[in-house]
Amino acid sequence: MAFDQEIDKRRTFGIISHPDAGKTTLTEKLLLFGGAIQTAGAVKSNKIKMHARSDWMEIEKQRGISVATSVMGFNYRDVKINLLDTPGHKDFAEDTYRTLTAVDSVVMVIDCVKGVEEQTERLMEVCRMRDTPVICFINKLDREGQDPYDLLDEVEEKLNIKVRPLSWPINMGKTFKGVYSLYEKNLVLFQSSKQRLDDETIKIEDINDPRLDELVGENDAAQLREDVELIESVYPDFSMEDYAAGKVAPVFFGSAVNNFGVRELLDCFIDIAPSPKPRETELREVEPNESKFSGFIFKIHANMDPKHRNRIAFLRVCSGKFERGKGYLHVRNNKKFKFSNATAFMAQEKEIVDEAYPGDIVGLYDTGNLKIGDTLSEGEKGMYKGIPSFSPEMFKEVVNKDAMKTKQLEKGINQLMEEGVAQLFTFEMGARKVVGTVGALQFEVIQHRLKHEYGASVDFMPINLFKACWISSDDDAKLNEFVKSKYRHIAKDKDGKLVFMAETRAWLRMVEDNFPDIQFHSTSEF
Ligand code: G4P
Repeated sequence: MAFDQEIDKRRTFGIISHPDAGKTTLTEKLLLFGGAIQTAGAVKSNKIKMHARSDWMEIEKQRGISVATSVMGFNYRDVKINLLDTPGHKDFAEDTYRTLTAVDSVVMVIDCVKGVEEQTERLMEVCRMRDTPVICFINKLDREGQDPYDLLDEVEEKLNIKVRPLSWPINMGKTFKGVYSLYEKNLVLFQSSKQRLDDETIKIEDINDPRLDELVGENDAAQLREDVELIESVYPDFSMEDYAAGKVAPVFFGSAVNNFGVRELLDCFIDIAPSPKPRETELREVEPNESKFSGFIFKIHANMDPKHRNRIAFLRVCSGKFERGKGYLHVRNNKKFKFSNATAFMAQEKEIVDEAYPGDIVGLYDTGNLKIGDTLSEGEKGMYKGIPSFSPEMFKEVVNKDAMKTKQLEKGINQLMEEGVAQLFTFEMGARKVVGTVGALQFEVIQHRLKHEYGASVDFMPINLFKACWISSDDDAKLNEFVKSKYRHIAKDKDGKLVFMAETRAWLRMVEDNFPDIQFHSTSEF
């Protein structure tokens, strides 16, 4: 197949949701359609259901599962789909943010009973940073949920994106009858079934077709006609351009657990979801169909066996063809590397891959050379942009409990930070080390892994910090002046970038007002 065709047929996306909205269930149904799994229940939930805080078995299990299900590749209607899993648990949000840098679009699952939830809002903000195209799937229509119009308004309001329904439900909960596809202009009648895979759609070319009354009853048919008329008059026609630019989100309704509305979503998805697009490096925009290979690392996973320090680095191919065993330039270190045992992820199986195309994700075995954000190329030196660190929300100071193991601690902390478990900030004054995380759970993970994998003992001392702000200024002298005057509150991140560690929101605001020449950023890339 020609190179351009290989690129055109790829769809690399992630499913995101607030925990429990149905991400795992929807993933499983998509894999069923793709023939990647044979039975429902085959996808293990990649979420932590932790009741006891110190349930280590659960975390270790989670790490295992999340390697297996991190990337699921499958084919559907001649399209190669790469589905990137994202942890739903809030404490692992940073991992999710980074995974979103490697996708070309997302499907967002929303629970029709709960509506837009907190985690959904944050994830949407991350999508907006790159104008990632979003499709909404409103799930659990077999339950009494909120009014569909209210749900659409809520999505527009809370997620700050225009919506365009492409399907419309006939009732909900006990009286749920089915979904009318505004995209394909046909009707799908609801049957509760966990295994339904056959085509049972009823084509209604004309919404006024009297068969509709027979199928759903006169009242519901009349209501549907009214709804469809209203939608078509209130919402502008679906625009592919606006969707691709991340300005409008098409919306589908369904019930993942009943496998209802999922095929409609998938069929539309492969029609409209973008294939790999150009991406920016520090030097220029790189087209996917350029002949030379390039890609970046967005995730690193430590080996489950603590005795072996091997890690798997997840590489997103951005241009050219990746070939196993070929030497590639590691841009940050300016060194050439060969990866002889690269793996592809097909469904839940890992298999050796000989070549991969833009949009594909490749697993590279690494002994500690690769970091999140690294670029590999066939010689060009620009690093890919758009894999920033985000300001953590919780901060604690690292206290070494065993002076004999200082070296192990240094090594362990650095490696865990490279894996992206958390972020390390080192204060200019006294070289105090502060770990920043999105959730409380990571501190326990770090403590546990330092002990078991590196033999180092640490305590975490609470410190009062509100936010880490990366700082910059057009005027170097002003920046130096600021750093001097706030010396006690200046730290460096893992790449040596300057960070202002603000203790409270009010104080940060005051400092921002007092130093108008300094820019304060909540991510490391600006
Ligand atoms: P997540 O990955 O987003 O966290 O959600 P997950 O798919 O695990 O789904 C969360 C719960 O919602 C599960 O129930 C799942 O069965 C249920 N669910 C998913 N889709 C639908 C739907 O369309 N309708 C209804 N009524 N429920 C749905 P659970 O009780 O937490 O787990 P399980 O024991 O059923 O697996």
